[in-house]
Amino acid sequence: MKEAHLDMLWWTDELASGLDFIDSQHKELFTRVNEVFSAVDINDPAKIGSTFEYLITYVIEHFGDEESYMILYMYDKFPEHRESHNYFVLKVSDLYRRFMTEDISEEVRKELVTELQLLLVEWLVNHIHNYDKKLALAIREKNSD
Ligand SMILES: [Fe+2]
Repeated sequence: MKEAHLDMLWWTDELASGLDFIDSQHKELFTRVNEVFSAVDINDPAKIGSTFEYLITYVIEHFGDEESYMILYMYDKFPEHRESHNYFVLKVSDLYRRFMTEDISEEVRKELVTELQLLLVEWLVNHIHNYDKKLALAIREKNSD
């Protein structure tokens, strides 16, 4: 049986929002996502636990920073952007909890790996393109007034 394997998350210039603080936080986020992936790939429960905690802590910090800017800049898309953040936090916390369940079968593990891949790569990349770039643009426009 082929082992479930995660594709790492790589930063590309297309993901740049044009605001340094957002981009550098996204790069840190990617690093922490890849640490979770490595831990899951080697299937080390202690490492999975610690890397998930390390990631979730930073996700909450990063979303909080973005949301502070949305409030400060009276950003009109704040409600939907925050909702998107809340969705991700719930999903990633749920995956963390499920990975931490003792004695998960190989089948369940494969499902979790697939969900993890979708959430931490597709969702995150889509969120950057569809939400964060717009936020960065709005901040830059207000700053240039
Ligand atoms: Fe965001």
